[in-house]
Amino acid sequence: MKRIMTILLAVAFAMSLPAKQNAATAPQLQFDASKSETRVMTMPDGQLVKYTAYEGMYFVTNVEDSAYQTINVYVPEGATQQTPIFLRTYVGGYMASKAGQPQAGDATGRALREGYVVAIPGSRGLNSTVTATKTDKKAGIKKGQTIYTGRAPKAILDLKAAIRFLRHFDKEMPGDAERIITDGTSAGGAMSALMGATGNNTAYEPMLRAMGAANERDDVFASICFCPITDLDHADMAYEWLYNGTDSRQQGDKEVLAVSDELKALFPAYVNSLKLRTPDGTLLTADNYLDFIKSELMRAAQIAKNAGADIPDSIGFKFNAESGFGVPPINGGMTGGAPKAAQGTMPQMMARRGGGQKAGEYIIDLDMPKYMNYVVTTLPLKTAPAFDTQGVCGQAASGENEEFGDRTGTSVNFTEFGAQKSGLALTDEIKENARLLNPMNFIGDKETDVAPHWYIRHGARDRDTSFPIPLNLALKLQNAGKDVNYLLAWNRPHSGDYSLDELFGWLKELLP
Ligand code: DHB
Repeated sequence: MKRIMTILLAVAFAMSLPAKQNAATAPQLQFDASKSETRVMTMPDGQLVKYTAYEGMYFVTNVEDSAYQTINVYVPEGATQQTPIFLRTYVGGYMASKAGQPQAGDATGRALREGYVVAIPGSRGLNSTVTATKTDKKAGIKKGQTIYTGRAPKAILDLKAAIRFLRHFDKEMPGDAERIITDGTSAGGAMSALMGATGNNTAYEPMLRAMGAANERDDVFASICFCPITDLDHADMAYEWLYNGTDSRQQGDKEVLAVSDELKALFPAYVNSLKLRTPDGTLLTADNYLDFIKSELMRAAQIAKNAGADIPDSIGFKFNAESGFGVPPINGGMTGGAPKAAQGTMPQMMARRGGGQKAGEYIIDLDMPKYMNYVVTTLPLKTAPAFDTQGVCGQAASGENEEFGDRTGTSVNFTEFGAQKSGLALTDEIKENARLLNPMNFIGDKETDVAPHWYIRHGARDRDTSFPIPLNLALKLQNAGKDVNYLLAWNRPHSGDYSLDELFGWLKELLP
């Protein structure tokens, strides 16, 4: 009887596997420690870092796109089972990204030098394609057809599968999969935010299972997000709310400017609905949000000024008056004029500012309209809408419109506003894909294991998305009890992996 039951169970199990597979032949995830190579990286200061490379490992068993669904892992000399894992995604522009190698000049090289295990997974993206090898009438696919493999939410599914792979082989590989730190910039910053904010949420589970991802958890320990292009559902309204008043939004196509006005008007209801609180407990609303941005810009500029940066008053900053104390005019002191040898080479920080007033140490005010006009001079604004452009005033599709398209390569609207303007339908499928691509939907949710530690940076002159997007993310996390280090980093444009001394100092405090 027992034997019959065993046979019946075995048959039932084999039938539950995909066609022509049984337990013996079903593809397995592989980690082969013998397939490795020892390498040396030369850091920018000449230091040599020795490490072992394990490359090209598939993180799913049902590989759809062999160019992207692999992970590389790099283990520096001295790493143990307890060493944290620094996982960098090189996603940019929501495009496909191959499993990369560590770069001496970015956070991956630095992480290796600091002794972290470095993991660099690939992921499918809006431009990844394969050619169908056979006709599948049920799926509506013809042999020879180009299939877009990476439309939303495929990139985050691949990255979650990569995290599961690291957990699956945690005992076989050096590094501690319970201490994964994710890092990415821009669309990659959005991916890092998603890895941090969607851990173990069941909405992704059926798709991960179908891909043949390991049956493991996918939550992470910390998430580093540089200029995350995220909350795409609300990024257009936030953009116009912030930039509508700039001089550059007063020029151009009248229809587009009217769209800017309409979008701007949608932001207050959204931001009020978030019920966010600033670190001092103040409830944030559309009425005080600009003051909050102002205080964040002043905080960032003050940090930079303290470190010796020259913050120009011409872009809107005001300083306290310089203190009355002067250096005595002996032994080269400056009072009464600089010594002859130094004349003409006086450092700028000593120079008198406009009106004969020397700047004091404190930034005491910021003229926001002036500052926002300055930001716009560093790089022209995006059009309105900034993201969901397709068909709005006859405008072309953006990368984001493609990101939410389907496997036949369509591009679609993904906001109510865009769909209403273009007349295209916002299907339930598109809405669900947009939901799964937005970390804001999962923070504070009991069904999700959100990373406990966050480092969020957005440049103080980055106009690729507007300041409320990273700030809302940071505050929502902080309000949910997470440890969040965030800053509108002074004078940084749209960029990432900067201030690495500071970043790795933060990590060292977390993981001594
Ligand atoms: C990126 C930049 C953008 O402005 C955008 O809309 C999407 C992605 C990027 O750099 O990844």
